[in-house]
Amino acid sequence: MTTQRVRKAVLPVAGLGTRFLPATKTMPKEMLTVVDKPLIQYAVEEAFEAGIEEVIFVTGRGKVVLEDHFDHAFELEATLESRGKTDELARLRAAMPGAGQISSVRQQAPLGLGHAVWCARELIGNEPFAVMLPDDLVLTPPGQGVMKQLVDAHADVGGNVVAVMDVPRADTNKYGILDVGADDARPGGLAEVKGLVEKPAPEDAPSTLSIIGRYVLEPELFELLETQQKGAGNEIQLTDSMARRIGQSPFHGLRYEGTRYDCGSKLGFLQANVAYALARGADNDPDLGANLAAWLKQLPL
Ligand code: UTP
Repeated sequence: MTTQRVRKAVLPVAGLGTRFLPATKTMPKEMLTVVDKPLIQYAVEEAFEAGIEEVIFVTGRGKVVLEDHFDHAFELEATLESRGKTDELARLRAAMPGAGQISSVRQQAPLGLGHAVWCARELIGNEPFAVMLPDDLVLTPPGQGVMKQLVDAHADVGGNVVAVMDVPRADTNKYGILDVGADDARPGGLAEVKGLVEKPAPEDAPSTLSIIGRYVLEPELFELLETQQKGAGNEIQLTDSMARRIGQSPFHGLRYEGTRYDCGSKLGFLQANVAYALARGADNDPDLGANLAAWLKQLPL
């Protein structure tokens, strides 16, 4: 099957981050730091690793710092240079995307994730595109990010492909949940999507397979988002429009390989910091993981 390659990713970052107040009063949630990098940088690196060429931020008021993070910081760079801090300088420069690889559009009011994605329609045009929610962080072996796993699956099956994981039944009311047809339940396997429901009560959930913040979607979705009514939480939901595509073209959930941390919640964010420090350490501190592990072991738990 020949499918059009995924070249663009939408990163909706206009949410209010109310679960993280007061930290997110003046600072975007996506600037929260896991070890030594803001969430937004993990997402952008994961997109480029997947072969994506253009990243589009859907921003709101108070989010300009997210764009600044991917620009030169002249005074800082000049100072690092004059002090001979070449490693630090090299790391900053290596993280800079190429000219024109990052752009942004505004969502003037936080009307929901579906509305945020719709705001990027003119920059996407008529081609398949990725959606990545930076507060979902997925720890994978290097070079095997979830976005790459999704883009590879999309190249095989086309249509819409979303990253999914099993959640406890008691938690289905926090996620978009799939009704599944043919299902390969192995890690890396695909589940055919027969239905999709946003935040169902545990007793109503058709399965426990939930969508996390990584998607490859078809451009036809924009027409549906345009007329999408408000849904759960009185917001324009992405899943409601996605559900209207079922049966029109292939639609799969990918049981991605990796461990997901919900960095929009305090517990998930703290877990991510520990897990990333233990698994990856830090570029400029190779002993970080071992030192943290030793400290954790002697905590009076
Ligand atoms: P969340 O449900 O995590 O909402 O949004 P939030 O506002 O960021 O955080 P809380 O729940 O108030 O703590 C999921 C994703 O959708 C984006 C958010 O930025 C996040 O990446 N989003 C949500 C928008 O861009 N616009 C919206 O209107 C709503």
